[in-house]
Amino acid sequence: MTDSANRRRFLQSTTALAATGIVGAHAAGKEQSQTVRLGIIGCGGIMGHHVKGLVERRENVHFSWLCDVDPAQMNRKESIIGSFQAKPARRTHKYEDVLSDPRVDAVIIATPHHWHAPIGLQAMAQGKDIYVEKPLSHVFNEGPLMIAAAKRYGRIVQQGSQMRSSAVTAKAGKLLKDGLIGDVMVARAWTAETRSVVPPVPDSKPPQGVDYDRWLGPAPAHAFNKHRFHASWRRFKDYANGEIGDDGIHDIDMARWGLGNNLLPSKVSAGGGRMLLHGHSSDYPDNMIVRYEFPDGKVMVYENYPFTAYGLHGFDNGNVFYGTKGYMIFSRRGAFSVFLGPKNQRGPTEGKALRGQRGYAEHMDNFLTAVRTRRPITRADAVAAHLSCSLVHFGNIAYDTNSTLNFDAKSARFLNNSPANALLGKSYREPFGLPTMA
Ligand SMILES: NC(=O)c1ccc[n+]([C@@H]2O[C@H](COP(=O)([O-])OP(=O)(O)OC[C@H]3O[C@@H](n4cnc5c(N)ncnc54)[C@H](O)[C@@H]3O)[C@@H](O)[C@H]2O)c1
Repeated sequence: MTDSANRRRFLQSTTALAATGIVGAHAAGKEQSQTVRLGIIGCGGIMGHHVKGLVERRENVHFSWLCDVDPAQMNRKESIIGSFQAKPARRTHKYEDVLSDPRVDAVIIATPHHWHAPIGLQAMAQGKDIYVEKPLSHVFNEGPLMIAAAKRYGRIVQQGSQMRSSAVTAKAGKLLKDGLIGDVMVARAWTAETRSVVPPVPDSKPPQGVDYDRWLGPAPAHAFNKHRFHASWRRFKDYANGEIGDDGIHDIDMARWGLGNNLLPSKVSAGGGRMLLHGHSSDYPDNMIVRYEFPDGKVMVYENYPFTAYGLHGFDNGNVFYGTKGYMIFSRRGAFSVFLGPKNQRGPTEGKALRGQRGYAEHMDNFLTAVRTRRPITRADAVAAHLSCSLVHFGNIAYDTNSTLNFDAKSARFLNNSPANALLGKSYREPFGLPTMA
C-alpha cells in the first residue's frame, strides 16, 4: 500500500472511530488510575533499562503485558520484574493483544524504528498513551499522522529523548533564556563514537520460537539474517535511520532545543561517505555532515565521525550553541560549559552536583505524571519529536539524493525535487503497516 493511501486510510479510520465514541470516553479525559498499567512492547536493549529503572525506583506502575516476537527477550524482562508485582505480566508476541486490553493505560514502545508509527498510531486509536522510543517516525510522513492521532484521541506522547528532562538541561536552559551567550545563531550537533567494521554474514534460519515475519512487519520481506535482527538492525534502511537517526537524533534534538526556534528548515544539504569502515555491513555512510538553514536565518550543523575516541570538545555526543556573546558546549552525557566574549572567558558549568545526569528517570516520571494528570506536559511531545525527526529524515534525504533540498513548509514538500519528495514516505508490507480500522 502506498504511503498516501495509508495516510488517507488512517485519517478516515480515526474519524470513523471517533464518531462511534468507542475511544471517546478515554480520550475525553477519564481519570487514569494512579497505578499506571503498562504494556511493554519490544523487550530489547533499551527496554531493559526502562523496566529496570521503573522497578528499582519502585514506581507506581503495573506491568500488565510483556510483548516481543522473541520469547527469550521477554524472559529477560520478566526476570528484571521479578517480585516487583504479585501478579506476573501476561505475555504475547502480538502487540494487538496489549492494545485491545482495556485495562492497559499506556504502552512503552521500544521496537526498531519501522514499527514505531504502525504500533503507536494503533495504540493511540485504542486509547493508550505512548512512550515511544526515538525516533517517533521512520519516515517524515508518519510524523503528522502521530501528531493528528495524539490530538484526535487526546493521548499523551513522549519520545525517548531523555536529555530534555535532565537537571543539566534545566540549568543550561535557564542560562540560555537569561541571555548569557546572547542570541543563539548557530547550533552544532555531533555523533563521534568509535565504530568498527562488522562484515556481512550469510542469511540463516531464525532462532527457535522467533516470529521473524512479525519482526519484519511492514518492512520488505527478507530472509533471516543475524545482522537484520536484535541491536544490529540499526545499520539497515528498512528498519532504521542511520547514525543520524540513532544517536544523532538525541544531539539534533538538543541542538534544536538550543536554537529555540521550533521551525522546520527551509534549506538542507548533506555530504559524507566512507572514510574508514570499508566492508562494513551497513546501508549508511560512516561519516556525514548536514547543514540546515531555517526560515529565521539560524543555522544548524550535524556531524558524524567514526574514529574519534576523544570525541569532539571531549564528548562523543554533543552540541555547541554559538551565541552573539559567547558559546556553550553541551553534552547529553550530562555536562555543559560556557565561554564568553572575544577572550573566551570561562562561564558557568553544570557543577559537580549535576554532572552526568542524563534524564532517564525524570523523563519517564514526566510521562507518568502526564498520564495520571492528563496534562500535556511531556517535554518531547509529538510536535517536538516530529520537528527533530524531520531533521534526521531531511539529512538522510539530502544525502541519498545528493541534492540541496528547498523545503516548503506550507505544502510539506521539497520544491522541484521529485526524488526527494518520494523519500518523505514509503510503502508498507501487508498485512502490517498503518491502521486499517475503517
Ligand atoms: N533513548 C535512548 O537512549 C535509546 C537507547 C537505545 C535505543 N533506543 C531506541 O529504542 C528502540 C529499540 O532499540 P534497542 O537497541 O533496544 O533494540 P533491540 O533490537 O535491542 O530491541 C528491539 C526489540 O523489539 C522487538 N520487536 C521487533 N518487532 C516487534 C514487534 N512487532 N512487536 C514486539 N516486539 C518487537 C525485538 O524482538 C527486540 O527484542 C529504538 O527505537 C532505538 O532507537 C533509545
